[in-house]
Amino acid sequence: MKITIVGSGYVGLVTGACFSEVGIDVVCVDVDKKKIDNLNNGIIPIYEPGLEKMITRNMEKNRLSFSTSLADSISDSEVVFISVGTPPDEDGSADLKHVLAVARECGRTMDDYKLIVTKSTVPVGTSIKVKNAVQEELNKRKLDIPFDVASNPEFLKEGAAIDDFMKPDRIVVGTESERAEKLLNKLYKPFTLNGHPIIFMDIVSAEMTKYAANAMLATKISFINDIANLCEVVGADINNVRKGIGSDSRIGTKFIYPGIGYGGSCFPKDVQALIRTASENKYELQVLKAVEAVNTSQKLVLFNKINSHFKGDLRGKTIAVWGLSFKPQTDDMREAPSLQIIKELLAAGATVNAYDPVAAEEAKHHFGDTINYCEEQYEALIGADCLAVLTEWSEFKIPNFKIMKHLLNEAVVFDGRNIYDKEEMHNLGYQYSCIGVKTVQTKKETNKSLELVG
Ligand code: UDX
Repeated sequence: MKITIVGSGYVGLVTGACFSEVGIDVVCVDVDKKKIDNLNNGIIPIYEPGLEKMITRNMEKNRLSFSTSLADSISDSEVVFISVGTPPDEDGSADLKHVLAVARECGRTMDDYKLIVTKSTVPVGTSIKVKNAVQEELNKRKLDIPFDVASNPEFLKEGAAIDDFMKPDRIVVGTESERAEKLLNKLYKPFTLNGHPIIFMDIVSAEMTKYAANAMLATKISFINDIANLCEVVGADINNVRKGIGSDSRIGTKFIYPGIGYGGSCFPKDVQALIRTASENKYELQVLKAVEAVNTSQKLVLFNKINSHFKGDLRGKTIAVWGLSFKPQTDDMREAPSLQIIKELLAAGATVNAYDPVAAEEAKHHFGDTINYCEEQYEALIGADCLAVLTEWSEFKIPNFKIMKHLLNEAVVFDGRNIYDKEEMHNLGYQYSCIGVKTVQTKKETNKSLELVG
């Protein structure tokens, strides 16, 4: 079986690599010639654990190839996946021009039955537009070729995308014909061996499922962040509260970790898109509007803590930053809380020494030479007045606190991801501030207060 995947970005490459891994012949197409040349030379444009090895392995077995021409591969492919980008246009809604351009090219170049599957995250109702675009081109050619469209949203997490694709919780497919259902069932069978289902449904529901899933997850995060902020005010510890509520299986332990707001290419964009879809249909998604508002303010919580520690004057202060990407295991900086926090720090006159295991190059596109990029995590601490942890990379979790104390001007840590233990930090003599927990004084400071009381 041979398939074509149009759009060799994050989703397209992971999809192509994983389908080829189970023995399907895959051609990944992209209009970007440089990207295709690079891929053909084994240069992978994104960082995703396991992807490079999987691509190389399957290229060697001749099951995976890269091309700039859909016209060349479409005749042998019964199924064409569309996984091109849908960047927000000026008014924030998803720009469908690339998706529809691929649909039209399918209509212009196909000579027999095709199943055209939309994998890009697109607003509800897009598959019908895809169908119309293909049909219009066929009409121009005065051809009556049968075809189907389908919606097959992806639920891949960056940093774990290969695993998510190979062992999915579920596969959601929206179709309107038995032929399409059979084809997708066959294609996805190897990925359902872990017992998780392919859920077939109508196309609009499949499109909606993608948004509803991301909106639900974003809601969990904004909810816990809101509660965390209240915990701090009333003197509760969100880490305890999280465990306390998470052990109720109806709530669950996942996705209730407080932090500095969700980022990435999906949640912010999809929450906004769903709010828009609702308002276009004269409905107001009140919960999601609050989710977005909480997230916007949460991105500033850590900056506000740092700013008030230095009594509102950050001029001349150096802040060490550990972690720039929006989450660990990726170099993706899209909508990363670090963007907002560092912008505020710089505007307030601080100097930023930043370290990230993989995102420094990406960060340079955003910050240029306005911050110092460090090669190594401890280097960032040299001469810094405090440390701010913005991404919970594993290598930050058990650092050498003694060396850190020696390198920092002051033993002050702002932990935006709650990765350290407040008692331990306290005992080590750090002034430690995290999310949803009242800042504890250092041992030294406590002794001082006791002396005063005494
Ligand atoms: C997400 C969805 O999980 C995935 O199913 C969808 O296809 C695309 O969007 P991704 O953007 O890769 O995936 O990141 P994810 O791991 O879900 O994290 C998103 C953001 O939420 C990150 O900024 C992360 O730090 C934050 N987060 C996550 C929290 O703040 N707390 C949590 O408990 C979980």
